[in-house]
Amino acid sequence: MHRILIIDDEKNVLSSFKKILDQEGYNIQTSGNAQEGLDLTQSHPFDLLIMDIRMPGMSGLEAFSKFKEIDPKLPIIIMTAHGTTEAAIEAMQLGAFDYVIKPFEVPAMKQLIEKALEAGRLMKTVVEYEPKEDFGGDRIIGSSSRMQEIYKIIGQTAATDVTVLLRGESGTGKELFARAVYYHSKRKDKPFFVINSAAIPETLLESELFGYEKGAFTDARERRVGKLEQCHDGTLFLDEVGDMPLSIQTKLLRVIEDKSFERLGSNKTLKVDIRLITATNKNLESLIKEGKFREDLFYRLNVVSIPIPPLRERKEDIPRLVEYFLTKYGREFNKKGVSLSESALAVLQRYDWPGNVRELENTIKKALIFSKSAAILPEGIFIPEHIREGKKQSSVYLQELLPDLVKNGLRRENGNLYKEIIEEVERALLIETLKQVNGNQSEAAKILGISRPTLKDKIDKFGLRKVVLLQES
Ligand SMILES: Nc1ncnc2c1ncn2[C@@H]1O[C@H](COP(=O)(O)OP(=O)(O)OP(=O)(O)O)[C@@H](O)[C@H]1O
Ligand SMILES: [Mg+2]
Repeated sequence: MHRILIIDDEKNVLSSFKKILDQEGYNIQTSGNAQEGLDLTQSHPFDLLIMDIRMPGMSGLEAFSKFKEIDPKLPIIIMTAHGTTEAAIEAMQLGAFDYVIKPFEVPAMKQLIEKALEAGRLMKTVVEYEPKEDFGGDRIIGSSSRMQEIYKIIGQTAATDVTVLLRGESGTGKELFARAVYYHSKRKDKPFFVINSAAIPETLLESELFGYEKGAFTDARERRVGKLEQCHDGTLFLDEVGDMPLSIQTKLLRVIEDKSFERLGSNKTLKVDIRLITATNKNLESLIKEGKFREDLFYRLNVVSIPIPPLRERKEDIPRLVEYFLTKYGREFNKKGVSLSESALAVLQRYDWPGNVRELENTIKKALIFSKSAAILPEGIFIPEHIREGKKQSSVYLQELLPDLVKNGLRRENGNLYKEIIEEVERALLIETLKQVNGNQSEAAKILGISRPTLKDKIDKFGLRKVVLLQES
């Protein structure tokens, strides 16, 4: 259960927080002054601190520095009233997670608390490769030669400050590796923040990164410190960097080259020292050709490039991953000791795992949830039917495939059937077209009415190089 400490000299603030957050299943402790809060933290660390900035005795700002000394990675949300936002902004520059202006809305506050707890988890949870049994952090599983290569590159580069680009399909573990790099770096005691370019609309992304001045745009009622400033001396993980809009790419390039930027609506240049880790599942070279990604930025980000292989190219890691997920979720779902039958493992080995480790993880989770005995049988594995039964995918006609896929989908509570089937159709269409033009990609693209780069992306996405002989031009 997450432990949250709330410090405010107003009793009614404390009691209303407690009432709201107790229901959410958090363990809430409250304190009327900063010194008492500091004592509490020393005896038992918290996962999150929410603190008023203006209190009698020790001020919030003073307390802030002391909390950071005790626990540099403690996420702290500052509460402030109108008129004291300057202090809150100062706290942000010193690494506070965020600040809110009183009175605040409960749903937004709950959301912010979740975000802060997640940021704290990402910063604090150790990531190790194949650690010993009793290890409490996140594990990277995989002893295949492809994975060993990656461990080696990370070992050689984590401690330097070079920019790292993680490339790989969705679900291959890019975020996990990003955190491994951070955790093995000199900056491991400094902040680590994540920004996902694909998840945030352009204007919001810009203000998240760079911050803004009061009045910079209609909604800019107060000055806001961006993640770059907050991350000073630390590590910033730019996830899905291939989705970053061009205008922001230009500004990012300047941050890399000159270590400088301005808040939106300001002409004061700020300096930062940040280590960048980036990740993408896009083909950046194709995006460059399409004019959607800056080539100069690419070279800056691509100093050390770590290609994370898809699971189908390291199937020898499947048994260990399965064992790991069975233990992990067996504990969580109260299904300890449930194992996988030989035949079920054979099914998993036969499948191509387009969703990679994430898909394998979800498959094991579902199998555990629905398991009724001590062993999971092939029937308990929710993947396309023809693979479970060992038919060869390429020889299966679509009409034959559809009933199985839909039947399979009906068994799940939260399906993704539309996407899965369309992807099956897409894959079959691509294979058939490429076969009929003898692997000539330009011709295939022309017939399909899609661009060459798009076709290339799809070939990578579906792993078609292994299925069809392609003419490389
Ligand atoms: N080698 C591994 N060992 C253990 N767990 C792994 C491994 N690789 C991935 N996972 C798990 O698989 C899931 C997906 O990993 P992650 O989120 O890092 O993928 P990603 O490459 O960032 O995907 P996306 O491109 O979709 O964001 C996570 O739950 C992660 O913990
Ligand atoms: Mg990711």
